[in-house]
Amino acid sequence: MIKDISNLQVKLQALLQTQQTLDNQGKIADYIPALAKVSANHIGVCVATIDGKIAGAGDHQVAFSIQSISKVFGLVMAMNRIGEDLWQRVNMEPSGQPFNSIIQLEWEKGIPRNPVINAGALLIADVLASHFSASKLAFLSFMRKLSGDESVYIDNNVYQSELSHGNRNAAMAYLMKSFGNIEAEIPDVLSQYFTQCSIAMSCEQLAKSLLFLANKGIDPRTKNVICSPKDAHRVNAILSTSGMYDQSGEFAFSIGLPAKSGVGGGIVAIVPNYGVICTWSPLLNKFGNSVVGTNLVASLAEKLGLSIYH
Ligand code: DON
Repeated sequence: MIKDISNLQVKLQALLQTQQTLDNQGKIADYIPALAKVSANHIGVCVATIDGKIAGAGDHQVAFSIQSISKVFGLVMAMNRIGEDLWQRVNMEPSGQPFNSIIQLEWEKGIPRNPVINAGALLIADVLASHFSASKLAFLSFMRKLSGDESVYIDNNVYQSELSHGNRNAAMAYLMKSFGNIEAEIPDVLSQYFTQCSIAMSCEQLAKSLLFLANKGIDPRTKNVICSPKDAHRVNAILSTSGMYDQSGEFAFSIGLPAKSGVGGGIVAIVPNYGVICTWSPLLNKFGNSVVGTNLVASLAEKLGLSIYH
């Protein structure tokens, strides 16, 4: 049961103070050089609720690289576009491997374990590149529509940096193509995937954009149907089992919310029938999840009684 949510703004401010006093832990994602330039000291948190409240603290309105959080939005677009056929090409099981692992793809004949590891997100990028005439623009428009903010943009520095350090992603895409599970040309798939990862958004924009997943597929602000209730359930289920990569079990065990992280340091956590939490702090643990962000989501979930398993 969700506990007292009055004075959320004050609660978030107080929570940030506790985190700022912690020693710096973790490591910034430096395998994409453009991300290594971001200051490690950023910290932001925002909560958006389906009844229209927004509370934020710290750098909650500063745009950062959303990275793998984009996989959630790509998945929704692909489900809407090709429906059940998607699940012939990608599975819905946890991988038990790091997010960028290639090893299972060979064993499992080019079918990615789930849509939120890199292999699965590349598959989704292929669906979008193959089924939209202007797929990158369609993705950006979707993000702008969901956030209600036309200023959402693609960070070209991050995009170029990813493109020139994307050999592992290219290898996975070629391997899937060798099994006949990729339709488009690989450069187009990679360009789609890196464009999605390179979108810059703030905690506040992200939290608002994902409210439909807390509200059975309907954006509570516009009443637009973003996806079916069944697909909202499916996305939340995948985020619960795989969204925090190889730390998903521990995250469910200790926090109990569907969530997705990105190597830019963002985390989004969906609280069904309540709202969305988004945190940002760039230092990552060995799984690629923000250390402070995980702590912030954990504290909020505990203080407010948000776990879906209660
Ligand atoms: O594929 C990559 O390397 C990145 N563009 C996205 C990775 C990412 O955010 C994984 N998440 N933790």
